Amino acid sequence: MCGIMGYVGPAEAAPILIDGLQRLEYRGYDSAGIAVHDGSVVTIRKAEGKLERLVALLAESPPSGSTGIGHTRWATHGPPTDFNAHPHTDPAGDIAVVHNGIIENFLALREELGEKGSRFTSDTDTEILAHLIADEYEEDLLEAVRRAVRRAEGAYALVAMSRKEPGRIVAVRMISPLIIGLGEGETFLASDIPAILHRTRRILVIENGEIVDITADGVRIETLAGAPVARETLEISWNAEQAEKGGYPHFMIKEIFEQPDVITETLSGRIRGSSDVALEGVGFPEGFVAGLDKIWITACGTAYHAGLVGKEIFERKLRIPVDVVYAHELRYRDPIIRPNSLTIAISQSGETADTLAAAELAKGRGSRLLAITNVVGSTLSRISDDVLYTRAGPEIAVASTKAYLAMLIGEYLLTVRMGRDLGRYTDAESAEMIDGLRHLPQAAEEVLGRSEDIARLAEGFAGADDVYFLGRGVDYAVAMEGSLKMKEISYIHSEAMPAGELKHGTLALVTRGTPVVTVLTQRYVYDKTVSAIMEVKARGAHTIAVAYDDDGNAAKHADEVVRIPRVPDSLSPVLSAIPLQLLAYYVAVARGHDIDQPRNLAKSVTVE
Ligand code: M6R
Repeated sequence: MCGIMGYVGPAEAAPILIDGLQRLEYRGYDSAGIAVHDGSVVTIRKAEGKLERLVALLAESPPSGSTGIGHTRWATHGPPTDFNAHPHTDPAGDIAVVHNGIIENFLALREELGEKGSRFTSDTDTEILAHLIADEYEEDLLEAVRRAVRRAEGAYALVAMSRKEPGRIVAVRMISPLIIGLGEGETFLASDIPAILHRTRRILVIENGEIVDITADGVRIETLAGAPVARETLEISWNAEQAEKGGYPHFMIKEIFEQPDVITETLSGRIRGSSDVALEGVGFPEGFVAGLDKIWITACGTAYHAGLVGKEIFERKLRIPVDVVYAHELRYRDPIIRPNSLTIAISQSGETADTLAAAELAKGRGSRLLAITNVVGSTLSRISDDVLYTRAGPEIAVASTKAYLAMLIGEYLLTVRMGRDLGRYTDAESAEMIDGLRHLPQAAEEVLGRSEDIARLAEGFAGADDVYFLGRGVDYAVAMEGSLKMKEISYIHSEAMPAGELKHGTLALVTRGTPVVTVLTQRYVYDKTVSAIMEVKARGAHTIAVAYDDDGNAAKHADEVVRIPRVPDSLSPVLSAIPLQLLAYYVAVARGHDIDQPRNLAKSVTVE
């Protein structure tokens, strides 16, 4: 999810690289750097923090050269520091690389290269790539990169240049996006179109598994196996603002559609074989999990809703009691938090004031503190004993979507890790869970493929005054999130409740035509949840169910059924949340609201 920029041509590369990186900076990054080749020397400049720090550094000592690569980093391996910023080089400084994504086997490669004498100057997986390419280099950068990537597993984009080959850049796409811009006697490379749109509208999109040889005269694309690829040039008609959103009208919908990739990224490198999970950054001492008698989860808003799903899955599988408490409540209680407990603080930003205060309180009472957060180096990550980073990339829309899904994935991974420690997962059981997790990106794609059905459904909501969301167990947790999304951006009054609670009061509010959305995925309470649909239907409600593809009963009870692919019930929240995000989005669009910056709300709530 980092920003990448490259240039080969007649002009000075540094200002072009910086200009391109500035056009990607709206997404928020933590460090940046460039490498520029002047025909004999490669000069690297990099700096932690916002791009302006790098710009100041360049003003002091501007590097000259007309071939260059640049990078803005969203940290994954290692905190945002000068030495972790890209570009990275091999020890001789011959190969410079920038990279986006994750090298899953980086620890094994680091060991292997270390045994051959490599010494590393950063915590990153990127530096390994520079060493690997140098290891494979025989006077041809393209072939060296081709051989190096055969040794690297993961989802990434890689861009490299060699001191010995001025005027040449080689890039590879393995899932993470890369595009080429064709100019007159100059060629551009970027992770995202907005970086270069003002320079050229003639774009080549690089596909997965392709390697590109880039010079000022143009590009040659091949598959990694060496077959030449003919790629049609696209003429981009978007304006700059449309380009920032990848052609989507709003960041929120762009982020919703990024979710299959986010699931892949968050799982990446964390699954060991067919049945185990390894979580870098989570280092429970020997016997810690076995000695636990309580788990606390604390968070706010959407992160709290992710915590509600966590409670269900942790308790069911680990058989350890879990309390989920809003951080703003926990911090002012006198909670009975004891040392043999684990407190999981969940926060996309890692900067939410209430969550930080609750986390500090728990830690002060002797609890071990584990953060689930999206921002490497955030305050929460720094005060925690363990950190499980979600890898959703920068989330810009105030309404959180992809960060929520990534939090859920983090919780599933943690369940398997802790369940294995407790002996509560046999190999077969964890293999089943891992298999389910691996299928989620594809299943999420399928849900997104049905977005037009949700857009049609949303038309019926646009005039509603109230909406209700129901569910039981994890379905209730998802209903809470669906309701928050709805009220946050559509400004329609919305409530979520456990399906069994309705008849204890709220049913009085249900009148003819009131939309009631029921999440209906949990077999163990299926009939009970259907009873709630019948209750509201009898009062004239317009009923919508979110149910599995193979659930033939749902359509007998609900007026409309939104379908999701069949997955194990414990994993259903990852899929059932998506139609609710889409529903809120399309309703808000129909009502003409500011989608990405809803009234009265901020992306990060750093005050009480
Ligand atoms: O950064 P955090 O995850 O700690 O933020 C917590 C809430 O402020 C956040 O989830 C908020 O509820 C979102 N706007 C919901 O879409």
